[in-house]
Amino acid sequence: MEIVIVDSPEEAANIAADAIERVLATSPRPVLGLATGSSPLPTYRELIERHRRGQLSLATASAFLLDEYVGLPADHPEAYRTFIRRHFTDQVDLPPTALFGPDGASDDLAGAAASYERQIAASGGIDLQLLGIGSDGHIGFNEPTSSLGSRTRIKTLTDATRADNARFFADDTDAVPRHVITQGIATILEARHLVLIATGASKAAPIALTIEGPLTAMVPASALQLHPHVTVIIDEPAAAALTLTDYYREAYGHKPGWQRH
Ligand code: GLP
Repeated sequence: MEIVIVDSPEEAANIAADAIERVLATSPRPVLGLATGSSPLPTYRELIERHRRGQLSLATASAFLLDEYVGLPADHPEAYRTFIRRHFTDQVDLPPTALFGPDGASDDLAGAAASYERQIAASGGIDLQLLGIGSDGHIGFNEPTSSLGSRTRIKTLTDATRADNARFFADDTDAVPRHVITQGIATILEARHLVLIATGASKAAPIALTIEGPLTAMVPASALQLHPHVTVIIDEPAAAALTLTDYYREAYGHKPGWQRH
């Protein structure tokens, strides 16, 4: 696991955007995994800027969301598909038909989850998956005790996650859906490169448990320890509870040129 400690959310965004730009430049049919929440927003802003400057294109790319609320109308502003279009994909040249997400409005949610797994597989798999982390250590919407072998499925949110996300629903926790469809942990681990971004003091505890704690379903993000190519980009406040900080700085500061990104 590569740990990159940065001075600001903007620097985190630049590093994540560099990794995405490399995928876009090197793969004929790049497949991106997109996360919602606040953490990736500076990265999306940076990618939009680079697109406007003519530095990158998503014209041949496809993009898959991590998760979706169940029961929100498709055009609800906080449905993740709407959120990602507003904050990112509508502002770049990704073909609208190349954006995929679990169908949380389906009458057959189990069927929708299974069909989402098939869509990801049919794309050839995700080259780079962006991730945020919940304050309880969740990735996607895989709450604590999620099976480390889980696939895309319906999950129930914890009260804590609904309270965290109430800020997107006019601070009304009751308006946050209880159920979601999320890529499973095993689904996420199949992406070829995982890039997790976390900034701010509220992420210090889950980040320390993810990187330096035991592998456990109680901290779903700790499953990243099983993946051979993970980049965790964190600012100083999010890095505050780590113990091997000097080592991470040393390793990144002296990263050999031959090492893959
Ligand atoms: C939601 C999303 C996660 C995201 C998390 C943290 O629960 N499903 O993918 O990582 O929020 O969000 P934020 O980045 O806003 O802290």
